[in-house]
Order: sequence, then structure tokens, then C-alpha cells
Amino acid sequence: MKKIHVAPLAKCHAGVFVQGDKSISHRAVIIGSIAKGVTRVTNFLEAADTLNTVKVYSDLGVKIEKKKGEYFIHGNGLYSLNQPSQPLYVGNSGTNIRLSLGVLAAQHFTSVITGDNQIVKRPMARVIEPLTLMGGRFESRGGKSPVTVHGQTLKGITYTLPMASAQVKSAILLAALHANGDTVIKEPVKSRDHTERMLKHFGARITVKDRAITVKPGKELAARDVFVPGDISSAAYFIIAGLMVKNSRISVKSIGLNPTRMGLIEVMKKMGASIVIRNLKVKNGEPVGDVVVKTSKLKGTVIKGGMIPKLIDEIPVIAVAAAFAKGKTVIMNAEELRYKETDRIETVVKNLKLIGVEAFSTADGMVIEGGNGKPFKYASIDSFGDHRIAMAFSVAALSGENGMLIKDIECVDTSFPKFYEIISSLR
Ligand code: S3P
Repeated sequence: MKKIHVAPLAKCHAGVFVQGDKSISHRAVIIGSIAKGVTRVTNFLEAADTLNTVKVYSDLGVKIEKKKGEYFIHGNGLYSLNQPSQPLYVGNSGTNIRLSLGVLAAQHFTSVITGDNQIVKRPMARVIEPLTLMGGRFESRGGKSPVTVHGQTLKGITYTLPMASAQVKSAILLAALHANGDTVIKEPVKSRDHTERMLKHFGARITVKDRAITVKPGKELAARDVFVPGDISSAAYFIIAGLMVKNSRISVKSIGLNPTRMGLIEVMKKMGASIVIRNLKVKNGEPVGDVVVKTSKLKGTVIKGGMIPKLIDEIPVIAVAAAFAKGKTVIMNAEELRYKETDRIETVVKNLKLIGVEAFSTADGMVIEGGNGKPFKYASIDSFGDHRIAMAFSVAALSGENGMLIKDIECVDTSFPKFYEIISSLR
């Protein structure tokens, strides 16, 4: 197991480019694979999760090539995938397995899909249930993977999601493209909408009205160019580092600023952060811009309700910022954290306590007593094999008395292989 000592940082002035957005990279491969023509993807995220998506769709017979740093996906239409000769392997990726279940449900063959030791523990019933209502046929291990998918002719449904989940929503949307009849999905709280935006970009008949999405099937998708912006979830580590480390100014360039992913910026501003957005433009239906932050005095806050899906993946690093802020922070309605790569309510609180922070978990969140800028205690941090825990506590180490030892860091490769290279470039 690889480990790293992350030393404290006295000050930092830097311009940073983070790697491409993971959610958009997965979708470019999946949607490009069922579109007609060649989809060209620029700034594709080359990380374990998204490279597994390339492998899964190659195993389904799609020609995917890399030329001069760009990816070219040769799609042949909604029903062009071939039966794979072996189980499809998603590695650590919940997005890949759940979205692919929606695609596979409508193919005219049987396939098996599975992943690593974290994936096989995560719930798939949330996707299998609505897809079964559409006429899909599945066999699973008690609602978990491996899942065997017996492809069927699907029908449209009207479905209200029981939880805010972009992955469940997207699985249904992808299945709906293949169904007989319209599908209407209603969301309790709006979750990230990259699938809706990309499907529109590829010419699908999809309309969004408030929290209801309607898909009219029966039309092939047309291949398009996709530019993948920097991942705001990866930028989050440098945004918070810039706010916490003394005498700092960090500019994170060309990152996706989709409103359904902007919770981090909204909450940090509420906590007193100096954050400015520059060079905002729209590229293939997604807002992109630079985020500039300066060292700020942060204060505690309450994070709950509709805000949660807009920052769900950033909660570990927001918890670190809260632990450095003045006063108490309460995070509620975030039970979904328990179903991520690890139970992030427990893995965050456990590590916060190790670095001298007063914190406790609740059924659907956590309460953190901020130390008002007091450096964190040195500790040996277990990532529990969760990339976002490793990266969040590496940011904490920059504001530690003696830094921190971060253990089991291979997992960072799932979403952000260049993370430690960029962290060391800040010095
Ligand atoms: C994702 C959606 C979110 C997020 C995950 C990526 C996506 O999960 O946590 O990292 O790309 O659709 P849920 O939709 O299950 O909450």
C-alpha cells in the first residue's frame, strides 16, 4: 500500500489546471457509443474509473481510439452494441455500472456487469427497480452486483425518484431512449444534469421542466464533439487549500461550473470565502470558467436539503474546511454519503477526530466544531481506499502542525491521478 507524507504549506500563489470532469467523461463514452458517427472527446479524464468505461464499451464492440490526446468513439446507433464474451468490469465506478445497466437493459443480448470490492457492496436495486418497471429483466446478488442483464424491449414509464441520484436518473434516461412510449422522470431534489445536457447536445428529444424530464424515444443520437471541462470536484481540493493556507491565492482554470455542481462555491461563500469567477463561457451546453480564491477567515454554517446533491462529492473536503473555520458546522440530509465508495459520514468523522477535531456523526450527516484556524494535529490517516478521503485529508495536512501521513493512496487514481503531482507543484 502506497503512503505519502504531506508537509504543511506556509503560503501559496498558483494557477492550477485540474483533470477533466469524471461525470462528463463517463457520459461522453457511453452516449458516444450509442450515437451514430464519430464522437470526438477533448480533455477526456484519463483515470482508472473512466478508462474502465472505455474498456467496457470496447468489450461491447465499440471502436474507441486515442489520437493526439483526444478520444474518438465510433458509435453505430442505439442497438449496435455486441454481446460481450466476458463479464463487463467497471472497477470502482458507480456511474459506469448504473448508467450502463440502463443501456444494457435494452440491448438484445444477455450480459453480466460487476466491479471491485467496493462496488459489489453498493446498492444497485435503486436502478434495477425502475428499469424492471420498464420491462427490464435482471438477476442480482440481493440488489448488488454482479448483475446479469437479460436485454428486453422496454416501455416508457412515469417515475418519481425516491432519492436525489443523478446515476439513477441517468440510467432511466438512457433506457428511455430505447423504449416504446415516452418516459417522464420526476426528481425530489434536482441532481446533476450532465446527461440531460449531453443528450440534448446529441439531438435527443428531451425536455426539462422544473424537476420533470420527458424523453421521447425513436430517434437515433447524432455524434458530436465534446469538450470536457476541468472537474469541479477535483478543483475543490485546491479551492479549499487556497482558502485555508495563509497568504495564498490560487486560480483553478477552465473548470465546469454547471449550476447543479456549484454547491461548493455557494457554501464556501456563505462561510466567508473570497471567491471570484472569471472567463465564464458555455461549451457544448456546459458552463466553464476559472475560479480564483484567496485566504479567507471561514465561519461555520448549516448545509442541508436541496444543497446536498450540489456538493455531495465535496463533503469530505468541505468538512475539513469546516474543521478549520470558526464555530460549528452542521451537515444534514446527507444520508447518501453512506452509500459512496466508503460510508463517508463515518470515514470523515473518524479521521477528523484523529487530527484533533471535535466532530460526531448523525444518521444523515455530521456536526463539526471548528478550531478557528488552529493547525491540525499530526496523524496517520487511513483513506479506507476512498479517493475523496485521501485527497480531503491531504488538504488538511497542508494546514497541519507537522503535516500528515496519508495511507493507501492508490485509490486517488480512480478520479485524479495527477493530484499529488499538483499538490507538490504548489510549493
Ligand atoms: C455521479 C452522481 C453522484 C456522485 C457521483 C457521480 C454521476 O452520485 O456522487 O460521484 O456522475 O452521475 P449519485 O447520483 O448516486 O448521488
